[in-house]
Amino acid sequence: MRIAMIGTGYVGLVSGACFAEFGVEVTCVDKSSEKIAMLEQGRIPIYEPGLEDLVARHKAAGRLRFSTELAPALEGADAVFIAVGTPTRRGDGHADLSYVFSAAEEIAKLLTHPTVVVTKSTVPVGTGRRLRRLFDQLRPDLEIHVASNPEFLREGSAIEDFLRPDRVVCGVETQRAREVLAALYRPLNLIETPILFTTIETAELVKYATNSFLATKITFINEIADLCEAVGADVQQVARGIGLDGRIGRKFLHAGPGYGGSCFPKDTLALLRTGEMHGVQLRIVDTVVQVNEARKRRMVKKIVDAMGGEVAGKRIAVLGVTFKPNTDDMRESPSLVIVPALQAEGAELRVFDPEGRREGEKLLPGVVWCADAYEAMAGADATVVLTEWNVFRGLDLERARSLVRGPVLVDLRNVFDPERAIRAGFRYTGVGRGSIRPVD
Ligand code: UGA
Repeated sequence: MRIAMIGTGYVGLVSGACFAEFGVEVTCVDKSSEKIAMLEQGRIPIYEPGLEDLVARHKAAGRLRFSTELAPALEGADAVFIAVGTPTRRGDGHADLSYVFSAAEEIAKLLTHPTVVVTKSTVPVGTGRRLRRLFDQLRPDLEIHVASNPEFLREGSAIEDFLRPDRVVCGVETQRAREVLAALYRPLNLIETPILFTTIETAELVKYATNSFLATKITFINEIADLCEAVGADVQQVARGIGLDGRIGRKFLHAGPGYGGSCFPKDTLALLRTGEMHGVQLRIVDTVVQVNEARKRRMVKKIVDAMGGEVAGKRIAVLGVTFKPNTDDMRESPSLVIVPALQAEGAELRVFDPEGRREGEKLLPGVVWCADAYEAMAGADATVVLTEWNVFRGLDLERARSLVRGPVLVDLRNVFDPERAIRAGFRYTGVGRGSIRPVD
């Protein structure tokens, strides 16, 4: 089979490479000649474990091609996937669909044979219907089948998520679209992956409802963490205790500084706007958005309190600034609120992140970038963990303690074993670890 993948961002590039792994002939198209040139040379514009090898392998096998030209990519394609960005529109929280529609218009202009056009970008409910109308207007002469195939992959484990998904959701309205998508995902039958065929609206909503539910789950455990601190309970044990109930599940119950990233913040807002447009109140999601925003600011207070209420003139080491580990992505990262707020209170910040520096340099002016955690901690009055990179788990705490000026350790990802940190001489504050008795 043959497909064209429009957009070589995160979703497009990973999906393109993974479809090639399924044996499909893929051409990834992007308007940016810079990006395509980079990919042609085997360089990957984003950090994602395993992606470089996968792309290199299928490029060498001739199954994965890159082009700035859409017309040749469309030739003989069984399906065209739209995987362009849908950022939050400035000012109103709606998803910005201009890239989706300009891609669709271009497809309509250039297409010469019947095909299936699939949205893989996260698009609000009703977009498939709008695309259907657009194609009817622009190409009444041609059979264009519209479908929705939302993506659930996570940054940092995207390839595994694509190749071994919990489920695949396909919104279709014609038999042809159903057949093409079923054929593309056939390799997943081997591992008995459920493939759900739904209407287009349902598939579009499954995506937003999934992300909003996961954001809700995180926000729920974050509030329970606050209560744990107040009553002397341990949120990790509470999470395990509730998560072992199969109806709840153990995943996405790690308390922290609030969710970030390119998806949850954007998709929760977009779902709220969809609700408003249709006169449906989504009060739970509305509250989740507000609680999560407030949480990032609350974390600033937590750090300041741990440092005795005053940070002016103090030196703070920050370990991790990306929104989660195994990515260089800084979008909506809690660090973007917490770091500037500490700077505004007069603290001097020394930062280390294994992958975040390139992006971080643009977004976090005025911090000192360090080559590793020890360098960041040298002479620091306090150390704050914002992202749970694995390298932090293996930190030699005794060595770290000998380097810092002050013993305050604020672990907003519960990376460290509190007892070990306390034994090494730190004054430990975690999230929701109310059962830890601080030592003076
Ligand atoms: C998320 C979803 O998990 C994917 O299924 C989805 O495909 C993707 O959005 C998308 O819509 O494209 P991603 O944003 O890469 O993936 O990252 P997650 O691993 O979901 O983490 C999101 C945020 O929640 C991070 O800031 C993370 O630190 C936070 N989080 C996650 C917690 O605070 N606690 C948890 O238990 C889990």
